[in-house]
Amino acid sequence: MINETSSHDQSGSTLRGQTVVVVGGSAGIGLETARRAHAEGAKVILTARNPEPLERAAREVDAISTVAFDATDFKLLDKFFDDLPSQVDHVLVTGPGPYYAPLAEFDFERARQDIESHLLLPIQVARNARNRVRPGGTLLFMGGTGGRSTATGMVLISALTAALPAMAKNLALELAPIRVNVIAAGFVDTPLSAQLLGETIEDRRNQLRTMLPIRRVVESADVAALAIHIMTNTALTGATYDIDGGQQLVSM
Ligand SMILES: NC(=O)c1ccc[n+]([C@@H]2O[C@H](COP(=O)([O-])OP(=O)(O)OC[C@H]3O[C@@H](n4cnc5c(N)ncnc54)[C@H](OP(=O)(O)O)[C@@H]3O)[C@@H](O)[C@H]2O)c1
Repeated sequence: MINETSSHDQSGSTLRGQTVVVVGGSAGIGLETARRAHAEGAKVILTARNPEPLERAAREVDAISTVAFDATDFKLLDKFFDDLPSQVDHVLVTGPGPYYAPLAEFDFERARQDIESHLLLPIQVARNARNRVRPGGTLLFMGGTGGRSTATGMVLISALTAALPAMAKNLALELAPIRVNVIAAGFVDTPLSAQLLGETIEDRRNQLRTMLPIRRVVESADVAALAIHIMTNTALTGATYDIDGGQQLVSM
């Protein structure tokens, strides 16, 4: 039986006493969600590949533990879940960025890795969640809206973008009463975006400030707020939530 009061305690702190795992929690959307979860009274467990930024992030959010490993190494991923000291309440998976390339430059080895990162990783997390996430807790995966449009170079990312919401629906049924959802983000101002855009990032921000219906750039904090809402609203499962400031409504 799910404890229906567990997500909203009397003090109004929605995550108080709950444990939130962030796979890919040392930067960007993952770190910001960890910050917010900590501020809401959650205990936080962080993972990422590089130990130093991970330890810095862990100190900032007072993480109860950290493990540095590549989440696409499924042996290490299984070990991470096996080693968790007790059941957790929520798991957010951020991690690997996208791969896109025009057909002439398409690298099949990178594409295979990308399929592992974006299709098989959620399935492997879901297999582990059966024993490790409490009934009514959440699995939350990061997807995107950019891959819904068509353009040269988008052949794989468009397929993966369409696949994740379909997978989440099926996982939500199979893992019930654990809840499974996807956040589909447009441009978010994170270290990943800075890395992908290089010195053109400020131009992109200015373009977004002018063109987006919200007249500002979407930040990690916006996505983190949505992630916390999905963790705490126990009616939500099997769905994909867009957060793009209206980017899909304008051509840019
Ligand atoms: N930013 C955007 O505009 C945007 C839009 C739509 C979707 N997304 C998706 O949202 C997710 C997070 O994006 P972000 O912008 O927050 O990225 P970010 O700023 O690069 O942060 C990614 C985090 O994940 C960790 N990570 C990356 N690869 C990993 C792996 N293989 N195993 C374990 N940890 C890994 C990184 O640390 P280490 O490098 O140390 O591992 C870091 O902590 C990505 O999947 C991205 O594709 C982002």
